[in-house]
Amino acid sequence: MTTDFSQALADIAAAVNAELDRLIPAVKTPEARVVDAMRYAALDGGKRFRPFLVCAGSDMLGVPRASSMRVAAAVEMVHCYSLIHDDLPAMDNDDLRRGRPTVHKHWDEATAILAGDALLTLSFEILAAPATHSDASIRAGVILALAKAAGAAGMVGGQMIDLQATKEADVAALTHLQNLKTGRLIAFSASAGAILAGDAAAEKALAAYGLDLGLAFQITDDILDVEGASADLGKTPGKDAASGKGTFVSRLGVGGAKTLAGQTIERALSHLQPFGAKADLLGQAARFVLTRKS
Ligand code: IPE
Ligand code: IPE
Ligand code: MG
Ligand code: MG
Ligand code: MG
Repeated sequence: MTTDFSQALADIAAAVNAELDRLIPAVKTPEARVVDAMRYAALDGGKRFRPFLVCAGSDMLGVPRASSMRVAAAVEMVHCYSLIHDDLPAMDNDDLRRGRPTVHKHWDEATAILAGDALLTLSFEILAAPATHSDASIRAGVILALAKAAGAAGMVGGQMIDLQATKEADVAALTHLQNLKTGRLIAFSASAGAILAGDAAAEKALAAYGLDLGLAFQITDDILDVEGASADLGKTPGKDAASGKGTFVSRLGVGGAKTLAGQTIERALSHLQPFGAKADLLGQAARFVLTRKS
């Protein structure tokens, strides 16, 4: 069955928005400020690319949306937390995110730190709850995989290297950095459906697809920082060069980075071969990464 990628992305984005709205209810108690900041960061914005991958991979393997949508919401919460903290003055010091003031600009740094912390914690609370899957060992498998992808051996570790990376960083070092920073969470997203389905062979193939997809996704993020427009991106371009950051673009130039992104996407697609036509949407998602404008 072939479905149009942009339609599928829009449908999943709408569904995950509704799920996030339900899972992060506004409160009127004294802690309302942090919940308001969580809702501000998690609702109404973003491409919802990671939720798309969770749902498309799950659909392909026959996992019910009742399960996959909770995992999709959980991974988007981790992603939104990473963006709140990434934008803080101590990290990238950005004022604009998803077309609006960043959380620390709208509130303050303490509220931004706490909102990020709470989104991260809530994501694991959601995964641990029986509604995510009736089998507790499957739930533990999802939690284990997300914890590894988000922590010091994954996204957090990548963020640490990123803050230290200079223009002298070579391609091997940059590949390691981007795999950790962005690849691991996208690999988790692509393979979560296989964990929910208890299919180890599919998990391995989809994680390999996701790691290459995530690497290419970060290369295009770095290209868009040079070529993109604020109105499309919803964030301020030109920040990487201004802060002297080591990226594939600083190392290879925009042309070299585009070539590398194209090769990386070809490799991502090769990991989808075992799934044949069933992986059509995931294949379209890989091509989208090369052409995206935001
Ligand atoms: C931005 O991620 C940060 C990276 C890891 C490149 P996205 O480009 O997915 O941001 P949103 O969710 O669409 O705002
Ligand atoms: C951040 O990478 C990736 C995260 C893990 C948050 P960037 O710093 O390049 O992301 P943007 O450009 O601010 O979205
Ligand atoms: Mg950053
Ligand atoms: Mg940033
Ligand atoms: Mg960037």
